[in-house]
Amino acid sequence: MEYKAIVLAAGQGKRMKAGFNKQLIELNEVPLIIHSLRLFELDEWCKEIVLVISESEREIMQQLLDQFGLKKVGQLISGGLERQDSVYAGLQALHSSGNVLIHDGARPFVKRETIHKIVMEVEKQGGAIAAVPVKDTIKKVDGTQIVKTAERSNLWAAQTPQGFQYDIVMNAHEDAIASGYIGTDDASLVERLGHTVSIVESDYLNLKLTTEEDLLFAEVILKMKENKA
Ligand code: CTP
Ligand code: MG
Repeated sequence: MEYKAIVLAAGQGKRMKAGFNKQLIELNEVPLIIHSLRLFELDEWCKEIVLVISESEREIMQQLLDQFGLKKVGQLISGGLERQDSVYAGLQALHSSGNVLIHDGARPFVKRETIHKIVMEVEKQGGAIAAVPVKDTIKKVDGTQIVKTAERSNLWAAQTPQGFQYDIVMNAHEDAIASGYIGTDDASLVERLGHTVSIVESDYLNLKLTTEEDLLFAEVILKMKENKA
């Protein structure tokens, strides 16, 4: 079994309010993006990593790759304004067939087991994403008025990695561009073309570091993982 990974680091990390891209925040003296890249560097199934970055951060990113000895990052590609643009840039750089996994550089804690389950599912039917059951009750609201309460038992929160056969996800991105569709994840682009995408149950530790308090959770998770190792 094998795949190639696109890891996204071309955002600005505005909600983290660090004053610089959150990918560079250090956790245990290792930058967030390096933690995330290591997941794939150390996974034998992963044959290549395309890292999507902001052009203004090319030098620092290259320096970190050298410093931490990451060898699978074959290409550093410039991202775009929206996440979707950054994924598309990564897909264009890959121009290969086979399995591709798209992952947020801001999710350093996804388990190898989850990655492998996604790849196996992609092999079977073309698309699969990490997800967890929603814990809160979700309300649809108009202004401040509740319009609808969704049935929680069939609601899942989408995470990354999101894996697809290359041609399927590339077509989905090209179709989305042609019709001006912007989705909040890659699966939604693939779903709208009628392809099956399944979920692989992940876990709540696979959080995306988004706001300041997520850094506190990250410290605790890292300690937990160290104790287990
Ligand atoms: N991302 C990207 N290109 C963009 C926007 C986001 O590569 N134009 C990446 C981010 O670097 C991140 C992932 O997509 O790893 C998920 O996005 P998010 O958590 O929203 O990160 P940011 O966009 O950086 O943060 P914010 O929205 O708070 O500015
Ligand atoms: Mg963002």
